[in-house]
Amino acid sequence: MIPELSNPSVCMKDPQRVQEILQSMVKAGSNTVQVISDFDMTLTRFAYKGKRCPTCHNILDNSKLISNDCKAQLKELLDTYYPIEIDTARPIEEKLPLMVQWWTKAHEILVQQKIRKDLLATAVQESEAMLREGYQLLFDHLHEHSIPLLIFSAGIGDILEEVIRQAGVFHSNVKVFSNYMDFDESGVLKAFKGELIHIYNKREGALLNTGHFQELRTRPNVLLLGDSLGDLTMADGVQDMENILKIGFLNDKVEERKQSYLDSYDIVLVQDETLEVPNAVLLYLT
Ligand code: C5P
Ligand code: MG
Repeated sequence: MIPELSNPSVCMKDPQRVQEILQSMVKAGSNTVQVISDFDMTLTRFAYKGKRCPTCHNILDNSKLISNDCKAQLKELLDTYYPIEIDTARPIEEKLPLMVQWWTKAHEILVQQKIRKDLLATAVQESEAMLREGYQLLFDHLHEHSIPLLIFSAGIGDILEEVIRQAGVFHSNVKVFSNYMDFDESGVLKAFKGELIHIYNKREGALLNTGHFQELRTRPNVLLLGDSLGDLTMADGVQDMENILKIGFLNDKVEERKQSYLDSYDIVLVQDETLEVPNAVLLYLT
């Protein structure tokens, strides 16, 4: 049906079910579809030429805006908490408070740095952030077909927006839920706004934004893109959902995590740095 679903990176527990969801969505029409996507390591690359690519947080962590001392502290947090994030041996209930600790500590350090809003664009420009191959087609195609794209990120909204702005794809159909920086009147970071979004509370984040989902109630067919099991709850705010097709990028600790990804995502993309499969699905749906 979609030749790209035979790519070597594609794994599916129930290909028949995927076909059924796709057929049902095609039948409903592209004007009933919305896309909900995670950002870090889903729309952006996990690695390039064997080297890890940065998350929104890492873009700042590695920038000139942070003192060497704080860089070391942030690196230590990453080395401590990232292995916990991807540890399959620990249940989510055990990881959740530790993830809150990570985000909270990192945000405290960032706030101490008196980061200036007007320097964020340069930090992004000088970073090694990379959107996945095929991003242009994804963003442009959704825009052309007026399909709403919600980017739902536990990263940093200001940074994420800058990445897609600099890539020329921050189109009018894109909406972002994320952690936004709060600047004082002189443009210096003083806090983060609103409720913290971390990797395991996207459900709560979705439910806080009922207005958005209310506006999109004529689009009960969802294409969800994520890279973490926490991303599976991003669509929990969608009203009267009819179909959901979940595509998950499995970037790291592949063997240990493959079964749990196959159990929860309809299509699993193993170490696939491209958006080829999501793009093929979207072309099929439109
Ligand atoms: O956009 P997304 O929801 O993927 O953003 C969360 C990612 O940010 C996590 O996968 C986590 O590894 C990363 N992170 C980070 N530094 C922090 C907190 C989270 O790189 N201080
Ligand atoms: Mg992610």
